[in-house]
Parts: sequence; structure tokens; C-alpha cells
Amino acid sequence: MTEREKELLAQAYAEIEKNRDIVENDPYRMNYHIMPPTGLINDPNGFIEWNGKYHLFYQWQPFKTGHGTKFWGHVSSTDLVHWEHEPIALAPSEWYEQDGCYSGSAVEQDGKLFLLYTGNVKEDDDRETYQCLAESSDGKTFKKHGPVLHLPKEYTAHFRDPKVWKKNDTWYMIIGAQTKKLEGRAVLFQSQDLKNWTRLGDVTGTNTDLIGEFGYMWECPDLFELGGKEVMVVSPQGVAPDGMLYHNEHQCGYLVGDLDYEEVKYRHGAFVEMDRGFEFYAPQTLVDAKGRRIMIAWMGMPDQYEQKHPTIPFKWIHSLTLPRELKLVGNKVYQVPLEEMKMLRGDGVSYAGAEMVNEEKQFDGVEGDVMELGLDDISGTFERLEITLRGNARFIYNKETKLATLERASFAHGQTESRHCYLEELNSLRIFVDKSSIEIFINEGEEVFSARQFAYPENKGYSFASKGYVSFDLNKWNLNKSAAAYQVQDERYA
Ligand code: FRU
Repeated sequence: MTEREKELLAQAYAEIEKNRDIVENDPYRMNYHIMPPTGLINDPNGFIEWNGKYHLFYQWQPFKTGHGTKFWGHVSSTDLVHWEHEPIALAPSEWYEQDGCYSGSAVEQDGKLFLLYTGNVKEDDDRETYQCLAESSDGKTFKKHGPVLHLPKEYTAHFRDPKVWKKNDTWYMIIGAQTKKLEGRAVLFQSQDLKNWTRLGDVTGTNTDLIGEFGYMWECPDLFELGGKEVMVVSPQGVAPDGMLYHNEHQCGYLVGDLDYEEVKYRHGAFVEMDRGFEFYAPQTLVDAKGRRIMIAWMGMPDQYEQKHPTIPFKWIHSLTLPRELKLVGNKVYQVPLEEMKMLRGDGVSYAGAEMVNEEKQFDGVEGDVMELGLDDISGTFERLEITLRGNARFIYNKETKLATLERASFAHGQTESRHCYLEELNSLRIFVDKSSIEIFINEGEEVFSARQFAYPENKGYSFASKGYVSFDLNKWNLNKSAAAYQVQDERYA
């Protein structure tokens, strides 16, 4: 370990200790989501199941609730529900990453854990980018090998976020890029040893013309097989709102198609928003030993309101979403809450065959700020069904317009803001509420709305309203806490 690395790690651990009490006393601190111990969290990185354990790294700025020189934080889990903190994985100690160890991924080779990530360097207005390799035998401390790939001349220095996978004994890597014409791209590379990489070409844009110009930069691409197709999930910047679509500052969506690795041609359908809510960006997936494709995302958004988050006075900001299992149904990617989430269920109440006719009502026991709410077999001739959550957020399904809507009071200015999606019919809802977030899974994952919600902490009520006749089975469970306080033994300091 270099002196610089030692110094950075010591400073980051000291910052955690300094802010520990204030962070833990925030009424908006969540109970079962991954959050930074202090400072800012953004993208999930290096999501992998390795040696029988799930590992998840994340973009982390320990010293302020803003962006900047990022570290890689690290948590691990055996069940994707209870996460343990691990020693800090990467600190930006070297010249090729002096302004941040940016996003990347993890793979296993010969029993070892390898990270591929972006070294970010900024000199005045100039930016440099290096794709770097680091390796670990214990899954805790990483030896850096430095840059393994330099910027090809066709792209600007907005070239980052390597996601690596293996197919037929060859490594492939996809990188988010910007062409010199300022168009977003995803670039495919291949390698036999993770160290020497050959560029195969752009898998979108020039080679397919199917999507053309779509944003000025594509961040965090992830490309994988799902249900016999290749799905690319990507977060483009610079896509203008289009009707009810693309109202967040930056977008996140997916393409479904067929990738010809030889010809480097990706024939895909239209870009579809991955999540319909307010905070969802830069997701990453893994495939686990059970063969499940699981995705987790940043439940945040870089925008002009970021610095208005109510948790900032408590010295932390943002969280990750719940991990979700992906399934391809037709050409649609469904996101299903993990089976393991049921482990957190505590007491609950249920109302089988609950009915409502042109009324507004509450159900006894349906209250709380750390809970799961299920509505199954939603049926009836109703025109509208509304669920108001904790006073300042509302889910609405309008059967006439076939629109599903999430409204909330903006945490920045208090005005109501809304996001919508088209939904042919509403059959079921599973809503996960944590102290300051809601994730609404519609029809077993056909659509999802994810959002941070800053309700009055005392407000734990839910109110249901219908126009017309509606019936459903209602279940509510309190969820137990799984987020652990930060407790880490870093051997490098023993
Ligand atoms: C996406 C992103 C990535 C980058 C990282 C830096 O949110 O901008 O492109 O690697 O965050 O933290």
C-alpha cells in the first residue's frame, strides 16, 4: 500500500467516525437499503457473486455530500438482503485516477476477483480517462495494475464505466462513450487476459442506425443475455423529454435485440425507460449461481435539485435501490423483487376481497414507514384507483386513459411533480416503503416506479380512493431492519 493510499483511507475512515452519530440519527436514514456510511453514494459497481458471497461496490465520496473524487465502497452479503460493510476497496491514490476511481465492474479469473474501473484525471478543463485493472485474492484488499486501455482517438475523454463478461472463453467489455461529434455510444472490446484489449466497434449508432442520435453521452452500459436475447441497459445523457417520457435530468433504459459478436452488429428495438419514477440511474447487473440476472441501481439523479436533499444536514446523501430480478416477457424487461425480500417480513394485516365504491378509506393496521404493501387480484369496473402514501406521494391508475402515475411533493420546492407510464391493465401492486423511499412494482414487475420520498416522519398513513367499483386482496407487512451500522476491521490498520 502506498503512503498516499494509506493517507486517503485514514481520512475516509476518520470522516465516517466523525459523522457516525449525526448520520445514524437522521429520521430519513433507511432500514433496508444500501446507503453511504457518510458522504455521497452513486453508481453500484463491481456487482458479482464470488466464492459463495455477493459483493457490491459503489461510487463513494466520503468527504462531502457532493460528487468529485470518488472511492469504491464495498459491501457483501450471502442473501442480497443483509449487507455487511467491508474495508474500502479503492482509494484514488494514483496519478491515473487522481480525480476519482470511477465506475466499473468485477469478474472472476483463476479464483481471483478482478475489478475493471475508470481512472478519472482532470487538469483544469482537460479530462483524461484510463480503464484500470485491480486484483484481489481475499475479496477485501486490491492490488492495482494501473491502466490497461487507453482512449481510442475516435472518442472524447467521456469514455468510461467498463462492464466485463465472459463468453466462449473470451472476455468482452462494453464502455460508455461520446464520439467527437458529441454523440453517445457503447463500445465493445475483447480480450483473452483482461490486460490486452482489442476494440471490436460500436454496438449502437454507426453500426446499426437503429437508434441514431440519442443523447450526447452514454453512461454505464451493461450488456447481457436474457431469455435468449441480448439486452443492453444504458444511461444516456442529453435526451430531451418526449411526451410523458424522459422527464428526469438523465435517462436510464434498455434495448432488446440480437448481438452478432463477429460482425459487431446489434439489431435492437426501441429504447424503453427502465423505471418510471424520479430517482433511478446507472444500474448494474450480475448473474448469480442460481442463474438469476439481478439488477441494482442508484436511487438518485444528478440534477439541479441534488443539493436540496433533506438528508444533507445529516452528512449523507442517496442510496441504492432494492436489487431486482430481471425477466424477459415478450420484448419487455420485467423487474421482480427478490424472493429473499420475504425474509424481512414481520407482523402484518390482510384484507381478502376488500371492496370500495366511489369512496376514500383507510384500512386498520395499514400504516408504517418501513413496510411492504401488496394488492393482488385488482378487479372491478373502476375508472380510477388512488393510493396516497404518507401524505405527500400518490400512486394513481386511470383505467380510461390507461395511465399509471406517481405524484409527489418535490423535496426541492414542495410543488407536486409527476411521472407517468402507459399501462394496459392493473392487476397487482407490490410497494416497498423504507423511511425515505418508495418502490412500486406493478403487475409482477411489468413497470416499476422508484422514488425518494421525504414525508413528515410522523406521517405513516395510507389512504385508498376509488372512482367506481374496485376489489382487491390487501396485505401489509412490517419489514425488519437489515441495514447494519458501519463496523469494519481493516487489516491494513491492524
Ligand atoms: C454515472 C457516472 C459514471 C461515472 C460515475 C462517477 O452516474 O457519471 O459515468 O463513472 O458516475 O461517479
